[in-house]
Amino acid sequence: VLRLPPPLPDDAPAGAANIRRNANAGRDRHARWQHARDACWTALDPYVGSGARVAIVGAGNGDDLPLAQLSERAGSLDLYDLDLHALRQAHRRVPRTRRRRVRIRMLDVTAGAADSIARAAREQTDPSTPFPAPRPIDGDPYDLVIGDLFYSQLLAPALGDLRLPSHKVGETLRRHGQLLTNAVVARLRASAPGGTVVHLHDPLAWWANHPQPFPIEDALDRAANLPDDAQSVLANGRQPLGCDPRAALAPATIRATAWWRWRFTPAVDYLVCATIADAD
Ligand SMILES: C[S@@+](CC[C@H](N)C(=O)[O-])C[C@H]1O[C@@H](n2cnc3c(N)ncnc32)[C@H](O)[C@@H]1O
Repeated sequence: VLRLPPPLPDDAPAGAANIRRNANAGRDRHARWQHARDACWTALDPYVGSGARVAIVGAGNGDDLPLAQLSERAGSLDLYDLDLHALRQAHRRVPRTRRRRVRIRMLDVTAGAADSIARAAREQTDPSTPFPAPRPIDGDPYDLVIGDLFYSQLLAPALGDLRLPSHKVGETLRRHGQLLTNAVVARLRASAPGGTVVHLHDPLAWWANHPQPFPIEDALDRAANLPDDAQSVLANGRQPLGCDPRAALAPATIRATAWWRWRFTPAVDYLVCATIADAD
């Protein structure tokens, strides 16, 4: 069932940057990311109740999500993203017999704030759209809401595509990034009253021109020993600016933390952090 989407505004740099990246996903990605779907399901499995109402924000093409397992266990599964074309692709990934319980829904979880910040950075003005209110993403509450690796994608891709000087990118992310992330996290929490929110984010990355002070294996070793101690797992790694969902959470609400390696391409690795938290 598809709710008719509001069109993206004409000048939506954050939305457009994400849609461009989703369109470049490549057909081999689904097969290459089986390891990421398996790791994701291992982390989610204990928190998905039989018949639960589940929402995923940032579902995109669905390549990194264990949609087969989720759609089998959940009573309903709503996939949200600002990219409708990608969501249709994700829906096709659900086993045919379970597609009826999976809905796709177009949503900018920032309610226009990310586009407004990107436009203001380009025009050297102040953003005009307020941060999203802590209002549920849908009328009905969910038992489990999953934020899927969109936090680092709210602003950075748009600022990169706008070819702003790096000091302007840094300044924009420092000024607005974490406040926007905090507002989005509050929105996800409001969508699962009494339930659980799982925040998937990518605090460390490795590629040729982006070295870290240690290899990913070291971080994974630390994570295997002390998964709840994110600070030690990340040690002095270079993290992206202004997009940490954990920083938006009261530590007492965090129930568990899981980590895995996401082999994004043969040349690019991400360390995924799954934070399982009480919504309230
Ligand atoms: C790195 S991808 C996650 C991988 C994705 N699940 C897949 O397998 O294709 C991040 C997703 O977040 C979505 N996204 C980014 N900003 C968003 C926003 N403001 N509202 C909703 N979705 C957003 C992107 O369109 C993209 O599909």
